[in-house]
Amino acid sequence: MLFLFQYIHPMKIILTNATIVNEGKQFTGYIIINNDKIEKVGKGEFNSSISGKIYDLNGKIILPGIIDIHVHFREPGLTHKADFYSESRAAAAGGITTVFDMPNVKPQTTSIQTWKEKKQIAKQKSLVNFALYLGATNSNFDDLKKADYSLIPGIKIFMGSSTGNMLVDKKEVISNFFSLGKQIVIHSEDENIIKTNLENVIRKFGEEIPIYMHSNIRSKEACITSTKKAVDIAIKHNTKLHILHVSTPEEIEIIAKAKKQNPNITAEVVINHLYFDTSDYERLGTLVKFNPAVKSPEDRQGLLKAMSHDKIDTIATDHAPHTLAEKQNSYLKSPSGVPMIQHSLQAALELYKKGYLTLNQIAEKMAHNPAKIFKIKNRGFIREGYYADLTIVDLNESMTVNKENILYKCGWSPFEGHTFHSKVYMTIVNGNIVYRNGKFNKTQRGINVEFEQ
Ligand code: DOR
Ligand code: ZN
Repeated sequence: MLFLFQYIHPMKIILTNATIVNEGKQFTGYIIINNDKIEKVGKGEFNSSISGKIYDLNGKIILPGIIDIHVHFREPGLTHKADFYSESRAAAAGGITTVFDMPNVKPQTTSIQTWKEKKQIAKQKSLVNFALYLGATNSNFDDLKKADYSLIPGIKIFMGSSTGNMLVDKKEVISNFFSLGKQIVIHSEDENIIKTNLENVIRKFGEEIPIYMHSNIRSKEACITSTKKAVDIAIKHNTKLHILHVSTPEEIEIIAKAKKQNPNITAEVVINHLYFDTSDYERLGTLVKFNPAVKSPEDRQGLLKAMSHDKIDTIATDHAPHTLAEKQNSYLKSPSGVPMIQHSLQAALELYKKGYLTLNQIAEKMAHNPAKIFKIKNRGFIREGYYADLTIVDLNESMTVNKENILYKCGWSPFEGHTFHSKVYMTIVNGNIVYRNGKFNKTQRGINVEFEQ
């Protein structure tokens, strides 16, 4: 009888002896998972008669499933660089349970139709949960206005072009999008400043531009000017504006001030800018070419400090894989972007070990705040009744990144040779253990997360 009962009802998963980090608290306890939801979060020892598959975590840390709201998984059309299966597998190994994917693919995700086609790909191939941005163009406002935003995180606007030629530069179009009442996320670099800088650099160096000039071409001024402009428009239209990959302390201050007038203006930093600066060009060359460019060591310190002081709302990756052959081209031909998602949580945990972040701040900036800002339904927190998206890490183990353990399709990482003093032990997506201790359940698929309107 009991056997039959268990057969009919899928077995519960019980995680015991864990350190649970959630909503500003840390405690020893257990979590019971029933189907795709968290059934119970308990303090202390688990000593109930409930039956299920027990995983004794022996003090390991449970975080709410990490949500990365900024990735480029390259489908459709750019699958020589990456695809939804390969990169979502790397994400699962890195403890990421949900990703929001960017529209600069082929064809670009700039219509409801292309969004639907891409959604089918993600549904079939993604091991983790997902949502897909719509991309703004100078001419698609009417189409994007009609979309159903219960499955869409928001609209991405390239205010400043980057990889993929998606610049939106018409003033009235930007105003239209900013006053639509939907979540806007922007790439913020001033196109005219970049253009002038590039012309000056070409005049000086010809086509053989040294890589370190990237940070002079895509200068601080380009970032600051664009962000000033964007927050002014967002204040005027009361826009929900998330500024992606903020790379200068000056912009953080501009955003902090703007928040006083419009609290829905929020800031993201990406791991790239927290880990790398202009001093890395010598060692890594075009491998650390990305947009916005790395800034000076002092700027990087400024970002770390701002993050410690909670002036930054979210930490993401801008996971942007390109093949090594593409990256190894000369400056003008080498595409901007670095793969990052497999190690972003470990990188954040390293910053915890160095004293820049608490574990609760990691939970806040990599799970709670993404869920709050984008109004994700029933995720981002360890709460009874919420989806069982959970990330379990071991702070007592180490791992060194090398070619053999990199899971990206492109097969390289700027972290090669780097040792992280933590390990992702288990990743649970919708109640399914997708990754545990080096092994994947490759049959699981994530779902399109939902948003409150
Ligand atoms: O470095 C970057 N790479 N910045 C972007 O804005 C786009 C990304 C890409 O798609 O490669
Ligand atoms: Zn990006």
